[in-house]
Amino acid sequence: MKGKRILIVGGGTGIGLCLAKQLIDMGAQVVIASRNIKKLERVCTELGTAASAYPLDAGDEQAVIGFYSELGEFDHLVVTIRPDHLTGPFTESAPADSRAAFDAKFWGQYILARYCLDTISAKGSIVFTSGIAAVRGYQGFSCTAAINGAIESLTKSLAVELAPIRVNAVTPGFIERFGDDTERWNMVQSLSARIPAKRLGTQIEAANAYIYLLQNQYTSGTIVTVDGGELSA
Ligand SMILES: NC(=O)c1ccc[n+]([C@@H]2O[C@H](COP(=O)([O-])OP(=O)(O)OC[C@H]3O[C@@H](n4cnc5c(N)ncnc54)[C@H](OP(=O)(O)O)[C@@H]3O)[C@@H](O)[C@H]2O)c1
Repeated sequence: MKGKRILIVGGGTGIGLCLAKQLIDMGAQVVIASRNIKKLERVCTELGTAASAYPLDAGDEQAVIGFYSELGEFDHLVVTIRPDHLTGPFTESAPADSRAAFDAKFWGQYILARYCLDTISAKGSIVFTSGIAAVRGYQGFSCTAAINGAIESLTKSLAVELAPIRVNAVTPGFIERFGDDTERWNMVQSLSARIPAKRLGTQIEAANAYIYLLQNQYTSGTIVTVDGGELSA
């Protein structure tokens, strides 16, 4: 990763931020982009001179086109966008909220991939993010499931269509969001008491999957699951 320029959209918090820190430790230059530039600038101050920040709403096609023309050449695109409203019982969800979630997480990733092709390295790669609801049913996750399923299908098609650029995805299981979060673990237990690992995944464990996909030149169309064994249980 030394000397590589890596764009992480959604990298101001959570798994994306954890990944940014790991990549900087490995010698990469990291660009983080999302809507809240003040938050990103604070994060960049912590990350140091190997990080830079850009404001971007990935669901806004014209904004993405303008962003790439300003950004210039880079090696890898990673997207870790989490929509503002994602889960909820199907019968209580407003279709407009589900549409907004698709705009951010599905169309955001699609548009970012669609317009990066003039400036991403031909030896580079794209890593999307899905989630295990793509392949297993959970109460209240119908919209999330549909978005993640669409991302996994897109990953496999683009791996063929965009070669030699590699296209992969990480599918996280239940990953800690704010440190070792007991409340979140209790919520996850109510959804799935069967997780073999008997704990939430750490953000570092999730970040390691992206690093594997960025580094391994012989992976494309691959979906790496980080779920503590949940999908096998
Ligand atoms: N954590 C888990 O347990 C888990 C499980 C399964 C899947 N996932 C997936 O893993 C990914 C990362 O999850 P996380 O929990 O680490 O996420 P997170 O920290 O909650 O959110 C990531 C970032 O997405 C950005 N964002 C939202 N809408 C955006 C938009 N339209 N354009 C650009 N940026 C946008 C937000 O920044 P701004 O507000 O500044 O835009 C936020 O910093 C997500 O795709 C999530 O669905 C996570």
